[in-house]
Amino acid sequence: MRNYFYTIILFLFSLPIWAQQTCSIIPAPQHVTAASGVFKLSDQTSITLGTPALKSAAQYIQQSLLRLRTISLSIAPLGTKGSAIHLLLDAKQKPEAYILDAEPEGITIAGGDEAGVINGISSLLQLAVAEPLTATGGIDIPCWHITDQPTYGWRGLMLDESRHFIGKEKLLSLIDWMAFYKLNRLHWHLTDEPAWRLEIRKYPKLALIGGVGDYQDPKKQTAYYSQQDVAEIVSYAAQRNITIIPEIDMPGHATAAIRAYPEYNGGGSAAHPDFTFDPAKDGTYTFLTHILRETNTLFPSGMLHLGGDEVSFGTEKWNQNLGIKKLMADSGYKDLKDVEHYFMERMADSVYKMNAKLLAWDEMADIHLPPDKTIIFWWRHDQPNQLQKTLDKGYKTVVCPRLPFYFDFVQDSTHRSGRKWGNRFSSLKDVYQFNVHEWVHKKEQQAQILGIQANLWTETVTNDNRLDYLLFPRMAALAEAAWSSDSEKDFNRFGKNLQKQFSLYREQNIYFYNPFNPSEIPEPIYFKKDRKDLNAKEN
Ligand code: ACM
Repeated sequence: MRNYFYTIILFLFSLPIWAQQTCSIIPAPQHVTAASGVFKLSDQTSITLGTPALKSAAQYIQQSLLRLRTISLSIAPLGTKGSAIHLLLDAKQKPEAYILDAEPEGITIAGGDEAGVINGISSLLQLAVAEPLTATGGIDIPCWHITDQPTYGWRGLMLDESRHFIGKEKLLSLIDWMAFYKLNRLHWHLTDEPAWRLEIRKYPKLALIGGVGDYQDPKKQTAYYSQQDVAEIVSYAAQRNITIIPEIDMPGHATAAIRAYPEYNGGGSAAHPDFTFDPAKDGTYTFLTHILRETNTLFPSGMLHLGGDEVSFGTEKWNQNLGIKKLMADSGYKDLKDVEHYFMERMADSVYKMNAKLLAWDEMADIHLPPDKTIIFWWRHDQPNQLQKTLDKGYKTVVCPRLPFYFDFVQDSTHRSGRKWGNRFSSLKDVYQFNVHEWVHKKEQQAQILGIQANLWTETVTNDNRLDYLLFPRMAALAEAAWSSDSEKDFNRFGKNLQKQFSLYREQNIYFYNPFNPSEIPEPIYFKKDRKDLNAKEN
């Protein structure tokens, strides 16, 4: 009886501790229950693998804990006694889903596939970095039972490296942060007006000449990714469950390529000179097909983004081009839009012949591309009809409307650098609260939405501080918006969890915007002589 009494007293005393315990993982896992005790993580902890295929995932833990907490784990044979993290595949779970069981005796992460295991590892890393180091340099990880899976399979970030080159070191660190938040698609915008950033062996001038300059300085020294760099980055990302999709923008935004190979110039307009490839020259299609073939071998994603946006910004010269006039007359095209569509449909054939999927901005929902081989990116938030058209035509769709998903937009009304739409911008809360269902009205079309993505155009990203400032912490809000279901989302809880991660941001020298204490880190100001174009309405 006495024992019973003490047990009840102990239980009652421990209740408030349980109640206080909240799981601070971002994005919020689907299902979490607290368990008692802690798992003691230290240099003595080993990792065991249910299958050798998980070796790369184990290395993701090793590299991350070393980087974040100077703890080095070893990989041990299955069945090894002692403190261990066990990685397993569990065919009963869905792709990308995982179960994380943290107990004092060991931690088990079981994923529906390798991606699920990697997601589980990212959750474990978040639990680990939330705790202080013990006197002996270890971490006492609180025990939880987590069952988790994503709402959307596409949780993307687009990075424009044409306007400003970010470079491999910072990019790899960004990939680590994406993985930390379980973002799984990096859409890499490698070509545009200011510069071309990808080595193409058949056409070396693309990188050597096209790689000169950036948005600020047209003479800036050549900067591009070699094919060796790309292989390293793609493999680093794959180890973290991130698929990289290259974008080679066409037929507009082609200025840098044309600087290197002017024979394919279709001309431009006063505001956008030499903006397009020439759609009437057969050589243009051969040139671009060779480029895409090489690109496709570098990226195992099997997806090629061909842009297709804002072509009309620079088609003025098409009106005087004799080849185009003949093409129009021969084919019965009534206007330049028809020519634009002919161009993209012809390039699409090249992409499909490579057994790759074609990805494009929402302008391309106007043309005839097979829905089973094409993915459309809805970006024009002021044109919801274009999203509706995309869905009605049966396309799988990634949703990335400017508001709130253009991260080059400011995140607070007082911010001076960056874009606004009238007086609207992309606050942390707007990113977090974005609800796809409010935009997709037909229930049966919900399944066509692959997921959501934020896009960072880099006109104002003149240095790493500005890159950080625009991405952090909105990247965390994006992650929870894409991973957690609408009913699980709670901005207050998210805000509390986010603030706990700010100490990690500080430790890792991330120059972030703190919406809870805006004066903590001042906005890195970007001044351009003429900022009109930053606020101009597109289309
Ligand atoms: C875009 O913002 N031009 C896709």
